[in-house]
Amino acid sequence: MFFDNCQLRNERLPVRCQSHKPVSFLAVRRSPLSIDHCTIIDLPRIQDPRGNLTFIEGGNHIPFDIQRVYYLYDVPGGSERGGHAHKELHQFIIAMSGSFDVVLNDGENKKRVHLCRSYYGLYVCPMIWREIDNFSSGSVCMVLASNQYDESDYYRDYGEFLRAQGRG
Ligand code: TYD
Repeated sequence: MFFDNCQLRNERLPVRCQSHKPVSFLAVRRSPLSIDHCTIIDLPRIQDPRGNLTFIEGGNHIPFDIQRVYYLYDVPGGSERGGHAHKELHQFIIAMSGSFDVVLNDGENKKRVHLCRSYYGLYVCPMIWREIDNFSSGSVCMVLASNQYDESDYYRDYGEFLRAQGRG
């Protein structure tokens, strides 16, 4: 199924986050982690004839404290990134320039989210297999992360991820 988040914003489907209040990590942890926990979050926009400004405060606009920022750029046409899940890491993905798709998969359900603006992003909770593709020319994918880089936090094998989800 394809979800364009411009469509999500207009139709107010449940996947869209309605407030900027932090999600309780415990609340997330008590229920199975699924793609329904992954939400589009609108960011503040200070509109100005000189150029617009958006800001993000960890724990305020997004539901975790920011420990790391990384970005994908100079992505050749047709490339695919991701292809893994994280055990504990929370992430927030923004199209800082251009556009791309994030395909979310919790082992049972999948959805494709198209990101194309720098004033909103996609929150991705732990235990979600994600792939990023359909990069436009010159696109920049910025990711805010709840922890520093730790290879042991990754599931890079899809079968192992499914088994960890109890679906293998
Ligand atoms: P990876 O997370 O697999 O990239 P993507 O999901 O975008 O396809 O990381 C690619 C490589 O970069 C891998 O060798 C790990 C390294 N890396 C770091 O050293 N630090 C980081 O913060 C990240 C995200 C990756």
